[in-house]
Amino acid sequence: SGKRDLLGKRVLISAGGTREYLDPVRFIGNPSTGKMGLALAQAARHRGAIVTLVHAPIEWIVPQGIRAIAVVNAEQMQQAMLENFADADITVMSAAVADVKPAEYSQEKLPKRSLPEQLPLAPVPDIVAELGRRKQPHQRLIGFAAQTRDIVTPARQKLQQKKLDAIVANPIDKPNVGFGSDFNSAVFLDHQERQIEIPHCSKLQLAHQLFDFVSEL
Ligand code: C5P
Repeated sequence: SGKRDLLGKRVLISAGGTREYLDPVRFIGNPSTGKMGLALAQAARHRGAIVTLVHAPIEWIVPQGIRAIAVVNAEQMQQAMLENFADADITVMSAAVADVKPAEYSQEKLPKRSLPEQLPLAPVPDIVAELGRRKQPHQRLIGFAAQTRDIVTPARQKLQQKKLDAIVANPIDKPNVGFGSDFNSAVFLDHQERQIEIPHCSKLQLAHQLFDFVSEL
């Protein structure tokens, strides 16, 4: 579509899977490739927005016209998001943030024999929850919830707990959608009891449907 409804709006998007390194070669991570965040950035750009994309390690080049900030771990992603959040009209947190990190980092590669049987872990900041606390009334904040089985119930809880305006409940246990795929399906939820099912489609189509949904928040 040729919609230019985001003309001049600032859209902040996070993408990809954060990594929490234990040493220079080993990390806690997840299979996110950042394709959903890329699709969101392209859709927003297409609709006229000024787009900032904060991304964890990705295997693609960020297209022209999108301001990119590369980060690795949750703490760096939080810092980049906080630096840009106050100026953003719409923020979409599509990154898959590793929920924990190794309690300690070793500058030297740990020899196999010195790896502990049980790795001590430490929490990482909940980035979108912090954004929710800082949110001003004119700002819109959208989260994602990647789930197996029942996707709606936990997503609705996160919508409330993290003070989001909308959430994308995203199945990751179905064939050909979710992590790494060019396709996706989802349920969009908001506080007005809207619950919209988006059947299997490209991530770019889903991104456009999400901005349509957000325009009616
Ligand atoms: O991991 P969870 O299902 O709680 O993720 C829901 C939302 O919270 C997602 O938008 C995700 O990007 C965000 N999140 C975050 N910081 C974390 C964990 C999740 O911003 N540490």
